[in-house]
Formats: sequence, C-alpha cells, structure tokens
Amino acid sequence: MTEKLEDIANAMVAPGKGILAADESSGTIKKRFDKIKLDSTEDSRRDYREMLFRSKDAMSKYISGVILYDETIRQKAKDGTPLTRLMQDAGCIPGIKVDMGAKPLAGSTAKIETVTEGLDGLRERLAEYHKLGARFAKWRAVLAIDDGLPSFNCVKSNAHALARYAALCQEAGIVPIVEPEVLMDGAHSKHDIDRCAMVTEWTLKTVFEELYLAGVTLEGMILKPNMVIAGQSCPMQASPDEVAEKTVLVLKRTVPAAVPGIAFLSGGQSDEAATQHLSLMNANGDLPWKLTFSYGRALQAAALKAWGGKAENVKAAQKAFTHRAKMNSLAALGKWSAKLEKPA
Ligand code: 13P
Repeated sequence: MTEKLEDIANAMVAPGKGILAADESSGTIKKRFDKIKLDSTEDSRRDYREMLFRSKDAMSKYISGVILYDETIRQKAKDGTPLTRLMQDAGCIPGIKVDMGAKPLAGSTAKIETVTEGLDGLRERLAEYHKLGARFAKWRAVLAIDDGLPSFNCVKSNAHALARYAALCQEAGIVPIVEPEVLMDGAHSKHDIDRCAMVTEWTLKTVFEELYLAGVTLEGMILKPNMVIAGQSCPMQASPDEVAEKTVLVLKRTVPAAVPGIAFLSGGQSDEAATQHLSLMNANGDLPWKLTFSYGRALQAAALKAWGGKAENVKAAQKAFTHRAKMNSLAALGKWSAKLEKPA
C-alpha cells in the first residue's frame, strides 16, 4: 500500500470507484437492526459487516475504501481473519471514523444546533489507527437548516474543528475526509433547494478558509459534502437536473481545484435518487475534481433488508450490495441510466 497522502487520496477516488461508509456507531447500527428485528450484538454487527466485506465483486471493482467504526477496525471475521485484511485483500483501503459525535453547541439558543467533538487525544488515537491499517479518516460536522439557522457560531465552530482534525490526520499520514453535512431532514417548510444552496456555499467557504489557516494540504484530503437539495418536508421539491446543476455550481464556487475528489454522503435520499444525481453531475462533465460516492444508507439499505440477520440470506444480500455498488460506480463515470436498475 502506498503511503503518500496524495496517492492515497487519488486511490480513494479512482475512476469508477467510491467509498463505503460502514462506520455507523453502535447506537446507529442498533436503529438499523431494529428495522429488521435483529438484536445488535458484537457478533451480529460482525456478521453483517463480514457479509459486506466478503462481497468480492463489489469490493474489488467498485469500492476504493471503507469507513469503519472503532469496534470494526479491531474485529475479526468468523474464521479469525481481521476484517481489515478482508478488505485489503480485495484492494480496498481501510478508513476510520474518529469524531466522537455531534454534541449540543453551548451558547446556541436554538436547541438543535451541535458541534462535533473528539479533538482531545486525537493525535494518539490516529497513531494507533494508523498501526491498525487505517490510511484515511472521517469527521462529520452537522448543520441544520431552520428559522435563522444555522447560526454563524455553529458554522464557524464546526469548520474550525474540521480543520484541526484534518491537520492532525495529515500529520499522522492519514487522509482526512472532511464532512460538513447540511442536513436534508428537519421540519422547516421553507427549506427549499435555494436555501440549501446558500447554506452549503456559506459552510464550504468557511470550511476551506479554516483548512487554509490550519495549513491543511488540499491535495491530500477528500471533501464529503451533502448534495444541494430541498429539505425532505419542503413542498417545493427540485428536479434531478436542478439538484445536479446547483450542486456543481456551489462546489465550483467553493472547492479549490487542488482537492482531488469529492465523495458525497447520501443523507436520506432514496438509493436511486442518490445514484441518479451523481450520474447527472458526472455526465455533464467539465469538472476540476473527481465526483464520487461515500454512501452509507444508499449503499447498504437494500443489502440489509435482503440479509435480515439470517445466514441463509448472505448470498442475496451480497447480490443486492453489489448491484448498488455497481450502479454507483457507473454514476461516478456518468454512465448510469434507470433501465440498468433491474431488481437485484
Ligand atoms: P449516508 O450516506 O447514510 O448519509 O451516510 C454517510 C455518512 O458517512 C454520514 O456520516
């Protein structure tokens, strides 16, 4: 495995490849397992993720790297092989979520605002994760849209923390995925696509200013933003073409061409919408950076449902996962079309 930050970042966004976000915290994976009526235990979490990582076709052809949770990077498959070894054997780079979650932002009068924590002791944790095989990391900041929100303090505090995290990662030889997520959920009826565009532009401008001040090398990082899209409960929904066009417009205004790649989160979009939007952006072409996926739900939802916690469904679940990975790989090349979406 190559060790230069730039090389790692470029491998993460290699043509037709994207990132599998499998870094659900124990709390989040429990919510996902509740839906299939499965107890979340160390073994059931291992079985589920082992099923994904043993999907040889998906992992070797369409996935460049996997974001892991602390428990998973230390876990072994049922036969004793480290889970990181399974993905490395398929040519995927292990990554690790290092933030400690979004916590209520002190001083904010709006109860929903958060700042992401986890900087204390991060230098030491990154050194350990590097030894465990991680060559990239993720830190997610969360910005909610509501009346008068996000606040200046929320945008600034989260951007500052992202920059301090990114600088620590690069010092440790780890590529930072910088993830400022403007949420698409929430109940605000005026959360249309233009409001999302405005907040996303402001957020990304602030993030890149903080990254500059922190001395972060842009060539050795990946940005993981939301797409520019209307809020889920907004009565005015934008067309797929408008989502693609406005997302690229905002990114061109804010993301320097020195950044090798942008890997989107899916954020609650349907599986197919997340794929379609990505494909439209790439099909329109003329982009200074690679545009690909770093999906959690939009890569896993179908597989989780097909698996249902049962060993006899592993093959069907792997088939569903491989199908989504392939569709998103095509989208990263701008070559997806709805007719390729046969049921997996
Ligand atoms: P979703 O694609 O489900 O939004 O998850 C991506 C992610 O890693 C969020 O931090």
